[in-house]
Amino acid sequence: MPEIRPVLIDNWRELIDLKVREDQNHFVASNLYSIAQSKFGDEYEGHWDLYPFGIYDDEGKPVGFLMYAVNFSHPTHQAFIQRLMVDEKFQGRGYGKFGMKWMLDLFHADERIQAVGISYAPQNKVARKLYASLGFEETGRIVDDETEAMLKLR
Ligand SMILES: CC(C)(COP(=O)(O)OP(=O)(O)OC[C@H]1O[C@@H](n2cnc3c(N)ncnc32)[C@H](O)[C@@H]1OP(=O)(O)O)[C@@H](O)C(=O)NCCC(=O)NCCS
Repeated sequence: MPEIRPVLIDNWRELIDLKVREDQNHFVASNLYSIAQSKFGDEYEGHWDLYPFGIYDDEGKPVGFLMYAVNFSHPTHQAFIQRLMVDEKFQGRGYGKFGMKWMLDLFHADERIQAVGISYAPQNKVARKLYASLGFEETGRIVDDETEAMLKLR
């Protein structure tokens, strides 16, 4: 089984080495950027705390990265999937979906979270299909040039 591990002193370097394909670079920020961003949180319609994690294969090799955001005071969605990437060498093997399901299980278990947001480049067909298969519905809003989608949990 793949495993999700927090970003800590002993693994952040191996996670910043993970890369998407060159033609996917504009779909996602680097893991180095994300880990830096996670130290300070995000200010968008209130303060969001950021939680970065690595995705590991069943042998303990790093294969991907994810980061979610929470703001329990936000009126529409209290969690946001801020980042998801799988290294170019490991894509298409279920790791992205595994990471998504892991986050959604966490959110389902937290009664403070009513809905989860996500956004993606309009031309990112793989991401759109993956999120739609998990129940995300597009809201019709464009945020920072990205298509916004939402999953209502309760
Ligand atoms: C999007 C991304 C995270 C998906 O992770 P992944 O591990 O490659 O995807 P999975 O193997 O879990 O597959 C998820 C679904 O996408 C489909 N898929 C994966 N790669 C695909 C491809 N190249 N073309 C078509 N479909 C693809 C799978 O068939 C699967 O669908 P299914 O559940 O119906 O079988 C990964 O491709 C990636 O890092 N892309 C670049 C960065 C990016 O776009 N991040 C998202 C920003 S919003």
